[in-house]
Amino acid sequence: MFEADVYTNRRSRLKRSLNNGIGLFIGNVDSPKNYPANPYHFRQDSDFLYFFGLNLQGLAGVIDFDSGEDYIFGDDVDINSIIWMGPQPSIRDLALRAGVKNSAPMKDLENFIERAAGSGREIHFLPPYRAETKMTLGSLLKENPCQMKTRASQELIKGVVALRSIKEQREIEEIEKAVDIAREMHVTAMRMCRPGVVEQEIFGVIEGIAHSRGKGPSFPIILSVDGQTLHNHAHHNTLEEGRMMLTDCGAESFLNYCSDITRTTPVGGSFTSRQREVYDIVLKANVDTIEAARPGMSNRDLHIMACEIIADGMKGLGLMKGDVREAVAVGAHALFMPHGLGHMLGLDVHDMEGLGENNVGYSDEVKRSDQFGLAYLRFGLPYKAGHVFTIEPGCYFIPELIDKWRGEKMHADFINYDRVEEYRDFGGIRIEDDLLITETGNRLLGEPIPKTADELEQTCKG
Ligand code: GLY
Ligand code: MN
Repeated sequence: MFEADVYTNRRSRLKRSLNNGIGLFIGNVDSPKNYPANPYHFRQDSDFLYFFGLNLQGLAGVIDFDSGEDYIFGDDVDINSIIWMGPQPSIRDLALRAGVKNSAPMKDLENFIERAAGSGREIHFLPPYRAETKMTLGSLLKENPCQMKTRASQELIKGVVALRSIKEQREIEEIEKAVDIAREMHVTAMRMCRPGVVEQEIFGVIEGIAHSRGKGPSFPIILSVDGQTLHNHAHHNTLEEGRMMLTDCGAESFLNYCSDITRTTPVGGSFTSRQREVYDIVLKANVDTIEAARPGMSNRDLHIMACEIIADGMKGLGLMKGDVREAVAVGAHALFMPHGLGHMLGLDVHDMEGLGENNVGYSDEVKRSDQFGLAYLRFGLPYKAGHVFTIEPGCYFIPELIDKWRGEKMHADFINYDRVEEYRDFGGIRIEDDLLITETGNRLLGEPIPKTADELEQTCKG
């Protein structure tokens, strides 16, 4: 973890935006896989990590916004646990590492919350996303656990989003470490991308890299020649010449900061001319939007810019027709790029998504669109210096979507369906990078990762 004063400062800053009530942060516990003592790999809650930094199961943190006192609740392990787990630091020592002077056993939390609630004080908590946390909150607050998500404190969500959105230098350094792990995962995948190799073999090797250099993958690895399926977690295909492998993966640094990078590699290491044409359109959308990203510009503006580049490219290939701006305004491009341009990145790969996408990426002034495609944009607000974002335009040929739209004559003024048919087995291309918005523009994070068609072909040869 970082030094104790990092967490003390973050809590102090939160205390400036909330000035009464109790902030209750329930840390994660182990989640069983197939029986209680066989858990999934432990992942601490990101908000708990942000304010208390302790990467251990079974803790709760409390911030008293009236008195300014902080507390860690948790249980010291007994000799039986030490026999199985080895010696563990005391809760008091752990609390001090987070700059917290007050610590107490978990059973005292119930009385603490009961007293606070009994005297009419507001108990602020963030939306829970795990059943175990809902149960703990429900039992502490004597309320239906199923309603805990809707009872979360908007005031606390706002305060947390404001802090976590602007990254500290130490956080940027962690994200860069995570990008560098992703770089190694991607270069390895490119070099293994040869005919006859099964996707699973590459998946296993790159997942191993994430575990050997950090805290493992930042989300389930997407690696498939069926790249038209946006979140494809199946890895059963054998690679064949003429197809492209889309790899979307990232890692967590040892302090749980995330990267998220996508590359699309031709099997065997050489693009066909048809693949290269589409690749270069997506590359232009990636490069031009990165070039344009700066404070004041919104992620929504940049998304529209990427969509117009994709639509213009599709028009150049004869797959779209008519006025490109009009086509994008009505959402016709979404046949080819049905997702958003990118999202915030930090302690979560979709940073703070658990707090509610609209609480992070939209406001009273900037509302989420309900148009197909644009509706998936996770963040519509202007960029600020200190934001960390992914930029991930793509172009996909999704046979089921083509059939549906064609059947409904959807946007027939803008789409040449006969020509689109010629690409129905093409697959998908996405190119994703991670960048920091600076005062004057932006900076790509991490060492450069092969990206142009020529660079990819060179890397595959290496
Ligand atoms: N990398 C997966 C996603 O952004 O959804
Ligand atoms: Mn992403």
